Order: sequence, then structure tokens, then C-alpha cells
Amino acid sequence: MAKKKKAKKVEGIVRPALMRDADQIHDLISYYGERRKMLFRTLEDLFERIREFRVFADNKDKILGCCGLAILWRDLGEIRSLAVDPKHIGCGLGKKMVLDAIEEARRLGLKRVFALTYEAPFFEKLGFTIVEKERLPHKVWTDCIRCEMQDNCGEIPLIMDLT
Ligand SMILES: CC(C)(COP(=O)(O)OP(=O)(O)OC[C@H]1O[C@@H](n2cnc3c(N)ncnc32)[C@H](O)[C@@H]1OP(=O)(O)O)[C@@H](O)C(=O)NCCC(=O)NCCS
Repeated sequence: MAKKKKAKKVEGIVRPALMRDADQIHDLISYYGERRKMLFRTLEDLFERIREFRVFADNKDKILGCCGLAILWRDLGEIRSLAVDPKHIGCGLGKKMVLDAIEEARRLGLKRVFALTYEAPFFEKLGFTIVEKERLPHKVWTDCIRCEMQDNCGEIPLIMDLT
């Protein structure tokens, strides 16, 4: 049987995003937006929401990944705009950033976090469970109004209970 290729270890840290990271976050999200893997975010939106983001910065402070935690209601958060530099997929950066976002969600007292994604197996590995779209509050679909694919996007809703 073929031996599983060991992922390359990437030196760096997960830290809160800073204003100087906004352009690199924008580039990452746009890369996947162009490939229809996630919603585009404007720079203006990123400036406004920079406090929602954590990034993975390498030793030279190059941004190799980003992950937002949006608060939708008193007990509900959303993992959104999760992206890893295509050259560093499979190195554990996505997991590190999502775990950091979950830790923040717990600290804030959120009871549940969810994600809408094409990468369900990744989230399942982290302990999220697939749910029926209808089980998520209506407020969740605010982004869909902005999206040209609307109800036909095929994104899978997953949720993690933090209680
Ligand atoms: C999805 C994404 C964020 C995952 O990040 P990553 O850094 O490549 O993933 P990691 O290396 O942290 O993987 C963590 C675990 O999930 C597993 N995993 C990652 N992607 C997977 C997939 N598509 N299917 C199954 N398992 C997967 C890994 O094997 C690893 O398992 P392990 O802990 O047993 O070793 C990244 O692939 C990405 O940026 N994709 C494009 C953008 C996108 O779709 N974002 C999601 C929008 S919500």
C-alpha cells in the first residue's frame, strides 16, 4: 500500500488579524472566490470586519491563511471566509485557525458555531455535524441574498455544539 505523504510543517503562528493584513486576506479570499469556493469580500467589508479574523502568519509575517468568526446571535457564531494559501493546503493551518476560532467562540459564551461549506469532511474531522439547512436560523441566510448562486450553491451546513 502507498505510504501517506507526510504534510510539510509550516513555521508560523495563528494571531488576530491586523489592518496591515487586509490586502493579503483579500487576495486569498478572492483566489477562492474566483474558483467559486467561497463568497467574495470587498476590502471595505474586510476593514470593517477585521476584528472577526484570525490569520496564520509565517515567520516573515506572510499571511498563509485566514478565518473569520462572525457573531449572528447571542448564542450563535459562524466560521466564514476560511482560506489557506493553495501552496500550503494539508499542512494543518486550516485546523489551527478553526480551533482558534472555536476557542474564541467559547470564550465569548457562544453555544453553537456553524459553517456553510463545500469542505464538509474537513469540518466533520474537527467535530462538526451536518445538519438540515432548515435547522439554522433564518438570519444565517443573509449572505445568500448577496450571492448569485442563492439557494442552488450546494454548500453543506455543519454545526458544532459548544455546551
Ligand atoms: C478547507 C481548508 C480550509 C482546509 O485547510 P487545510 O489547512 O488544508 O486543512 P488541514 O491540513 O488543517 O486539515 C485538518 C484535517 O482535516 C483533513 N482534511 C482537510 N481537508 C479535507 C478534505 N477535503 N476532506 C477530508 N479531510 C480533509 C486533513 O487530512 C487533516 O486531518 P488530520 O488532522 O487527521 O491530519 C483548505 O483546504 C482551503 O482553504 N480550501 C479552499 C477554501 C475553502 O473551501 N474553504 C472553506 C470555506 S468554509
